[in-house]
Amino acid sequence: MKKIAIVAMDEGRVIGVDGHLPWDISEDKKRFKELTRGHTVFMGRKSYDAPDMPKPLPGRHNVVCTRSPEKIEPHKSVTVCTDPEAFLRDLSKHESELRGDIFWVIGGEDIYRMSLPFLDEINLTYVYGKHPGDTFFPEFENDFELTEEEKYDTHAYRRYVRK
Ligand SMILES: NC(=O)c1ccc[n+]([C@@H]2O[C@H](COP(=O)([O-])OP(=O)(O)OC[C@H]3O[C@@H](n4cnc5c(N)ncnc54)[C@H](OP(=O)(O)O)[C@@H]3O)[C@@H](O)[C@H]2O)c1
Repeated sequence: MKKIAIVAMDEGRVIGVDGHLPWDISEDKKRFKELTRGHTVFMGRKSYDAPDMPKPLPGRHNVVCTRSPEKIEPHKSVTVCTDPEAFLRDLSKHESELRGDIFWVIGGEDIYRMSLPFLDEINLTYVYGKHPGDTFFPEFENDFELTEEEKYDTHAYRRYVRK
């Protein structure tokens, strides 16, 4: 399975504030749904619990990382993961329980950081301007090459591929 992070980050590398997104870009939310639908999404428990997201994300297999697995309500579309690095390293062992051919890493900060060495690509929404924030996307630019860019008024979609 291809491992791709999908993230919206601003010019100060901010991705979140107080447990939610610092902006509301409806086209980006729509694009996120379209791209991830039918595949697997890998996330931290805080992102899973975010009040503005359905739980689990419908139409996708959800892998939720937590140190307290008993807190995640069992669901047929959810795999609970207590060792994210081992999971990423041995992804092929889990493929029968996953869905689609893309393993989308959808955040937040903790999960992006630990996934970075395993990623094939980064699908970045680059949000113009700087926003107050408390969660950030790690530096990745030295290891990935920008291969595609679509520019809009408030943001740009960028595709990065590992060098
Ligand atoms: N802009 C974007 O594209 C984007 C995307 C996603 C999220 N966000 C934002 O990011 C923020 C949330 O990010 P976050 O970094 O605070 O939280 P997060 O990565 O979503 O979740 C963190 C949780 O993951 C679990 N976890 C982390 N490391 C682990 C490990 N080694 N082993 C097992 N479980 C582990 C822990 O869950 P337990 O506490 O249950 O043990 C930890 O509390 C929100 O503001 C959200 O809106 C932004």
